[in-house]
Amino acid sequence: MLTLSRNSILAIRCARLARRHLSSRASTILSALDILSSKEQPGVYDGEWKGTGEIFESICPTTGEVLARIHSAEPQELHEALDKTREAFISFRTVPAPQRGEILRQIREALAAKVFHLGALVSLEMGKIRTEGVGEVQEFVDICDYAVGLSRMMNGRVVASERPGHSILEVPNPLGVVAVLSAFNFPIAVYGWNLALSLAAGNATLWKPSPSTPLCSIAITKIISRVLERNGIPGAVAGLMTGGKDVGAAVVESQNVDLVSFTGSEAVGRVVGKRVQTRFGKVLLELGGNNASIIMPDADLSLAVPAVFFGAVGTAGQRCTSTRRLYLHRTIAPDFLSRLQKLYASVRAGDPLEDSTLLGPLHTQAAISIYSDAIKHLQDTDAEILIGGKRYDDAPLKNGNFVQPTIAIPKILDPKNQIWSTETFAPILNAAVFDDIDQAIEWNNAVPQGLSSSLWTRDLKNVGKWIGPAGSDAGIVNVNVGTSGAEIGAAFGGNKSTGWGRESGGDAWKQYVRWSACTINFSDKAPLAQGVNFPT
Ligand code: UN1
Repeated sequence: MLTLSRNSILAIRCARLARRHLSSRASTILSALDILSSKEQPGVYDGEWKGTGEIFESICPTTGEVLARIHSAEPQELHEALDKTREAFISFRTVPAPQRGEILRQIREALAAKVFHLGALVSLEMGKIRTEGVGEVQEFVDICDYAVGLSRMMNGRVVASERPGHSILEVPNPLGVVAVLSAFNFPIAVYGWNLALSLAAGNATLWKPSPSTPLCSIAITKIISRVLERNGIPGAVAGLMTGGKDVGAAVVESQNVDLVSFTGSEAVGRVVGKRVQTRFGKVLLELGGNNASIIMPDADLSLAVPAVFFGAVGTAGQRCTSTRRLYLHRTIAPDFLSRLQKLYASVRAGDPLEDSTLLGPLHTQAAISIYSDAIKHLQDTDAEILIGGKRYDDAPLKNGNFVQPTIAIPKILDPKNQIWSTETFAPILNAAVFDDIDQAIEWNNAVPQGLSSSLWTRDLKNVGKWIGPAGSDAGIVNVNVGTSGAEIGAAFGGNKSTGWGRESGGDAWKQYVRWSACTINFSDKAPLAQGVNFPT
């Protein structure tokens, strides 16, 4: 039986009753972040707050209450903002990189001072539980630290020239305008990864967040704009453009935008990628995951079971890195599944702002239908549903988008079948049994996506195979660590239909600069390369 805390029930009831006025649960968080909730508010920032276009509602996925109404940009405002972002870049590109790092340090401090309120806002507007909301803001703080260091280490190279008296330099220069189109599931962190590197690299960044999480983007932009203002930097260095498809399309198609960093579905990513390439812009794509965990017979189950539980149920299965496929070695499968089911049965669903809650709602009502369709397809194809499989339809959870986390054993084992190869952004875990590691790796790699993967073993031979040429083909290849919850230090991103993009740590910064190869002749002769003789 999946349980619900008493406080959660009360909070959700109160929120419903107070539908016409904002619940105190919501207003306390919004006012701590200087967000006016009572009236319509501007959702565009390019140095000034504006927006007279279409109105978007921010809806709390836990209670269904409208948190705020946000004005998007109308076309003229959109073009003005794009021009202002370009102008901001022209002045910002000559600020020395370590000074840009100092601004990032101040942004880091400003965010850290509000980390708990911002984390609560993520829970309120997106629906993930509070510890995860705070964790995602912490990722922004961490990547700022990283980028402060980077601002003194974005080094080029000196290359040996074949010609006497010549030197070749590879120089990283600022790229231009970077547009960040982010998804609902990480309404703060993904922008953070991009902004920190983009700003350290000397670019102006324009953020187009998901239309369903405008308040997170407004709160963050307010905090950053104050830091920029204090330092005499144009606000459009970190601009904001809330809105829907039309706004996204205009940003993607604008010649003013040098790099489009897009996080979202494979279907939209395919369109974005093509459009940006048509105008020879740069593109960075983070599309879906459909990640697997493989459990070998020698795995420490006391670690592996809770890790799979967090990977599949955490964030209500709405991370790109969520665990969706579970491959169990035959010898440990029954034990593993019975332990996992016990954890599933103990899940406390409820208000994500409550400390005792482990399972928040899905972000939208539309996601409930996607969940229900996937469950129906599993049932139609004779899968065994071990636990879950329904939405919560009793009061008060039925007012929010709550669904039961589900473990299924599909009858169909073909990894190309839609059960395994299509990603459902909901807490559904499909499990299958294997006999040897090669079979499990083949299944792991057989899907179109390739973001994250995780092998549980103590055997070095398995580890070597898993991380090597015949191993996992995902971008994230973990051992005794679940599929989700990557740190910011390593480059984050996936292969194949996940889009090959890399953000955050590692060498990801190299995409946010334009590289200049500069051959410099400091001799009295002008020889040609390759010894070419061209007498005059
Ligand atoms: C995403 O789901 O889009 O590794 C990002 C993780 C987080 C980021 C996920 N650090 O799960």
